[in-house]
Amino acid sequence: MTSDDHKTPMLEPDDFVIVRKRKKYRFAQFANTRNCYELVQWQKLDKKSSEIVLEVGAGTGLFLVELATLHPEKTYIALDVKADRLQKGGREAESRGLNNIFFVRSRADQLLQVVSAGSVQELWLTFSDPFPKKSDAKRRLTAPNFLEIYKKALVFKNAELYMKTDSHALFDWSLEQFAAHNWQIQQLTNDLHESNLEDEYKIMTTYEKKWTQQNLPIYFVSVAPNHR
Ligand SMILES: C[S@@+](CC[C@H](N)C(=O)[O-])C[C@H]1O[C@@H](n2cnc3c(N)ncnc32)[C@H](O)[C@@H]1O
Repeated sequence: MTSDDHKTPMLEPDDFVIVRKRKKYRFAQFANTRNCYELVQWQKLDKKSSEIVLEVGAGTGLFLVELATLHPEKTYIALDVKADRLQKGGREAESRGLNNIFFVRSRADQLLQVVSAGSVQELWLTFSDPFPKKSDAKRRLTAPNFLEIYKKALVFKNAELYMKTDSHALFDWSLEQFAAHNWQIQQLTNDLHESNLEDEYKIMTTYEKKWTQQNLPIYFVSVAPNHR
């Protein structure tokens, strides 16, 4: 037996075709789902929503689908760069007949092209990629450049940013960024699912289901921007 025997078997050219076809199919699903938008399409719509609940890096967006089901009076937007993930939430929302949730394919730094300044009441960052390399710190969704953008979106009284993560390193780093940029901590726990915080915070995202099955604690913080 050589050391190569332990490796994943090599993919044949046809396997790549299947993976690419599956992705293509999911992209097509995104394009054909009523509540899913490319940024340029979204910008052409006549939108008047305010007090929006926005999730940045939403993945499938299934967490927001649950919240949108509970609160038909609110407007929800799931933002992610990956259409093949977002279409899952889009199709689920469609099958539930929800008309208060939208899925927009966009980068986080384009957020103020998705929503108007001051129109967001709640901004969720759930299981954001930790980007552990120091050289990638700017890509973390709690990096100072993103916090500046979020501050412009969150100007309502009581507007807050909510963060859930399994990454202790990202959580600690993010707390430092919040403190350095004048955000005020409202609620904090190192074990969300054992805490007595609101049940709605405990509704699980797609990644959260994976991590809790491995008995990992979920870190949670909510912060308010200080505009002074
Ligand atoms: C680890 S996944 C978590 C997905 C989801 N929030 C969950 O908990 O299931 C991180 C997501 O963030 C998205 N993402 C990372 N950087 C982004 C950026 N700059 N703009 C938009 N989405 C981003 C990725 O495409 C990915 O879907």
